[in-house]
Amino acid sequence: MEIRKAVIPAGGWGTRFLPATKALPKEMLPLADKPLIQYIVEEAVASGMEQIIIVTSSGKSVIEDHFNRNFELESVLQQKGELELLGEVQRIAALANICFISQQEPLGLGQAILATRELVGDEPFAVFLPDDLFDTEPPLTKQMLEVYRRYKGSVIALWRVAKEDTKRYGIVKAEQAAERVHRILDMVEKPAPEEAPSDLAILGRYILTPEIFEALRGTPLGKGGEIQLTDGLALLLKQQAIYGYELEGTYYDAGKPLGLLKASVALGLRHPRMGADFREYLKKLTRD
Ligand code: UTP
Repeated sequence: MEIRKAVIPAGGWGTRFLPATKALPKEMLPLADKPLIQYIVEEAVASGMEQIIIVTSSGKSVIEDHFNRNFELESVLQQKGELELLGEVQRIAALANICFISQQEPLGLGQAILATRELVGDEPFAVFLPDDLFDTEPPLTKQMLEVYRRYKGSVIALWRVAKEDTKRYGIVKAEQAAERVHRILDMVEKPAPEEAPSDLAILGRYILTPEIFEALRGTPLGKGGEIQLTDGLALLLKQQAIYGYELEGTYYDAGKPLGLLKASVALGLRHPRMGADFREYLKKLTRD
């Protein structure tokens, strides 16, 4: 079955980015000239997704505003003759068929995904976490869809981390199935380095079979008093095979200030309008 639905969970508190995220959703922080979540929607569309479900929570209505038409702004831009900007603003609203669902209380990533059950229905779907950014060609999810088609099971993105960093990620125990493809044997959320089953961490792109919803319904509150997706996946693993795809490329954790800063530099240098000036500026900065 072709995968056409994408879930983007954007209902979390963004505590690692306080105070910037006190009133502004983390997903709306800018990377060069676009908010993070717009890159993710564009990536989902480039991966073949036709319907996008964004999970928000209270105080995050600006995300919805960003993807809606703004007729007042459009008419101002029209009057000023700013036609390039007008086209850019209109393009955002036409990017994809996007719907929003509100998570009443942000009780974890697992709960955010569970909230989309009715909208996703009984079909496999893709999940994109908006604070994990990947620089891969083709887009990471497109590569993971190939693995899904071949192995016919859920696929999660994997990345090797330093031993001391295992406590920040879901970590898997796995055996190699093919080049960069691993069959998952077990997984654990944020283990201490001495308890981690490997150095393979789960990152924010998933292809999930619909059985994940039943697994998440049976998942008790885990680390941090939240419903953890990793715990739900560990339950799903008892019924069906799950595969991991070790990505090749660059990963930025844009959910924390240093990660967003690194991504901003990398993207800024390649930006069609600002790239050349930014490069000159950085050269001067390093010279001085
Ligand atoms: P994170 O753990 O990175 O986001 O979850 P967070 O909770 O907002 O951030 P910190 O740890 O407090 O800084 C990954 C994604 O899952 C969403 C977040 O919005 C983020 O995009 N999420 C998390 C939800 O949608 N609901 C939740 O209850 C928790």
